[in-house]
Amino acid sequence: MPPTFVIFGASGDLTSRKLIPALYKLFVKGRLPSGVRVVGFSRSKFSHDQWRESLAETTAEFVGDGFDKGKWTEFAGHIYYHPGDIGEAEDFATLASFLSEVEEGKPCPRVYYLSMAPRFYEPAIQQLGASGLNDDCDCPRRVVIEKPFGTDLESAKRLNESVHEVFKEQQVYRIDHYLGKETVQNLMVLRFANTIFEPIWNRNYVDHVQITVAEEVEVGSRAGYYDSAGVMRDMVQNHLMQLVMISAMEAPVRYDADAIRNEKVKVLHAIRPLDERAIRKDTFRAQYRGYTACEGVESTSRTATFSALKLWIDNWRWQGVPFYLRSGKAMSCRTTQIVIQFREPPHKLFADSPKNLGESNRLVIQVQPDEGIQMHFQTKVPDAGMKMRQTDLDFNYQQEFKSKMPEAYERLLLDALEGDASLFARADEVEAAWKIIDPVLEGWKSSDKPTLYMYDPGFWGPDECTEWMREQGRDWFDTCPVL
Ligand code: BG6
Repeated sequence: MPPTFVIFGASGDLTSRKLIPALYKLFVKGRLPSGVRVVGFSRSKFSHDQWRESLAETTAEFVGDGFDKGKWTEFAGHIYYHPGDIGEAEDFATLASFLSEVEEGKPCPRVYYLSMAPRFYEPAIQQLGASGLNDDCDCPRRVVIEKPFGTDLESAKRLNESVHEVFKEQQVYRIDHYLGKETVQNLMVLRFANTIFEPIWNRNYVDHVQITVAEEVEVGSRAGYYDSAGVMRDMVQNHLMQLVMISAMEAPVRYDADAIRNEKVKVLHAIRPLDERAIRKDTFRAQYRGYTACEGVESTSRTATFSALKLWIDNWRWQGVPFYLRSGKAMSCRTTQIVIQFREPPHKLFADSPKNLGESNRLVIQVQPDEGIQMHFQTKVPDAGMKMRQTDLDFNYQQEFKSKMPEAYERLLLDALEGDASLFARADEVEAAWKIIDPVLEGWKSSDKPTLYMYDPGFWGPDECTEWMREQGRDWFDTCPVL
């Protein structure tokens, strides 16, 4: 039976900017199950046609060049709208009848996508339960929940409890769009479909790992939300933690949702909790100049728009290998990189041997943009005695595959429709991530250490962070992709 994709919060920004364009692209590529239906639910009083028309405009805008009017008209035939209020039980009852009607009374799998402000998650879930829309006796019913999943451990636990009153964990898909990025999935392929990397992917060969998620943009129109979240809640608790897990996990026994997530969550459990001393010494926070002048931001705000942390993973593989995480808005460029910095050669055989760690082997996984992987290594300069210099083996997605990278949402929506939760966060994973972040946020609240530094937009964060890294005998890999 073809599935039905129900979007709660259908008139919102995420729906028009990400969800519908992703579904449209999947449709054009012939990947959507045939006969799929997309049903929007929100308070706006659209007719089916009015919603289709408004989505035609936004989808054309967000899809850009690849938008095809004819294909859109075909796809729009699968789109329906049902007005309703999250707070009204009656509206859920009429939604239930409407869904049966479009499904012609047949048992069709359904995905309920909560594309709304987080304060509506619990009421929406309760209504889904009260109206029986969660009942998966005849057919799968799945719920997709957007981030932020809670604002701390306590609230994440509460939300998990409310969700579990209505849906079984296997029905819950907590989305983190970083997991939908091709390069993040490729990291698993790189590690577990090749034999040459795993033997050296450990404390015997790796000096440290750096994960940078830098954004060039400032907070813009989301300042109101951002000021209460800051970089730790907005980026580190979810996206960066996912990158840490995928970089550090052991090979799962099979490629399925639970086997993968079992291994991922073990990484979080092995991360050494940050105590007061570590928070002072190993965490770093900063705010870009001009942030407090943004509309929606308190003029006295001390929200961090940049942070860096050093984490230790106390397990057999990673003992003694620091993981450096860094993320910020208003930085030099947009780049997400995972850098595996290998140790220096044990014996400097050549007069021109690498003098420092930065000249030693380094594997750079360029997550975005200009997706690819580079391996840096020393090469003899021809006809120059034993002079050497660092050169690259360079794999670039665009050059190799000549195709555009799909949007993360395409993969994730398709997986939700097909019932594959491998790339979605499990309840214990989200809670374990908050367990690491909470003490840092608490520590930052109650003390002036670490200092809240300031940085100018357009740089790699504050100079003090560069210094902090140097004091540890290391350097950040500050390279913007060439676009
Ligand atoms: C979101 C954050 O989850 O991720 C945003 O809320 C951030 O603040 C965005 O800009 C970054 O995503 P991407 O895919 O552009 O790296």
